[in-house]
Amino acid sequence: MNPTLEGHLLDGRRALVTGGASGIGAACARELAARGAHVTVADVDGDGAKTVAEEVGGEAWVVDLSDTRALDGLRLDTDVLVNNAGIQRVSAIQDFVPDDFRLVHRIMLEAPFLLVRAALPGMYERGWGRVVNISSVHGLVASPFKSAYVSAKHGLEGLSKVTALEGGQHGVTSVCVNPGYVRTPLVEKQIAEQAAVHGIPEHEVMAQVILAEAAVKRLVEPHEVASLVGWLTGPDGAMVSGASWTIDGGWSAR
Ligand SMILES: NC(=O)c1ccc[n+]([C@@H]2O[C@H](COP(=O)([O-])OP(=O)(O)OC[C@H]3O[C@@H](n4cnc5c(N)ncnc54)[C@H](O)[C@@H]3O)[C@@H](O)[C@H]2O)c1
Repeated sequence: MNPTLEGHLLDGRRALVTGGASGIGAACARELAARGAHVTVADVDGDGAKTVAEEVGGEAWVVDLSDTRALDGLRLDTDVLVNNAGIQRVSAIQDFVPDDFRLVHRIMLEAPFLLVRAALPGMYERGWGRVVNISSVHGLVASPFKSAYVSAKHGLEGLSKVTALEGGQHGVTSVCVNPGYVRTPLVEKQIAEQAAVHGIPEHEVMAQVILAEAAVKRLVEPHEVASLVGWLTGPDGAMVSGASWTIDGGWSAR
């Protein structure tokens, strides 16, 4: 972020970023802190969460978001909620392990619902809130071998739109951000699985699978996603609600 352009637009606000220990979430934690927010970094990776929290002057919340029952009675006091934590599993449907499908849906759809549910009462009381759901181009279009991920992200799109409709009269917006492939461990970890399901060598996965659909042939950088998230939480983002913002190098233009 360019501090001379943005000032401290989130001074006095609290922000919670799930999956904030790594990749896009860590970049969002840095961006929101640079804008003045007090950031809580929520992650199952306790060491990573504490490291990022210390760096941004915030706090860590070590939590396994796959344990969704534990979130049923939660109440969150946060002005900005970034639902970002996620995992990937790559397999043909007939081979997809049922518990892997359920795990992806618990972390990437049930937990966002429960966190929004926990945060809205406080946002409504204060008359201001920003919910940013890190969806994906896979919230809008599909790819083979990602049934759990694609369906969870499509569900997140629906959750975001309902949140936008219910929250509008209370000063709360809800948006999805939809990146193409971003340079993070989540992408690095799926190279071997992608090679196996597509029947190609690992060194061909980048060109033949990952960058195949994008017009701009490079990975998105985490800070580029975070910069968009920062803008969406600022005053000029106030009329963006129920929308899905692609940042995918042209992938979804096809
Ligand atoms: N990397 C990409 O290409 C890409 C593209 C589009 C969307 N996304 C989305 O962006 C989000 C972040 O992905 P990333 O690429 O930064 O991944 P990442 O692997 O770098 O980070 C994900 C974070 O989520 C945390 N996490 C995983 N399971 C958790 C759980 N049960 N409880 C709490 N935290 C948990 C991990 O510990 C990690 O810190 C995900 O929702 C992903 O679907 C990523």
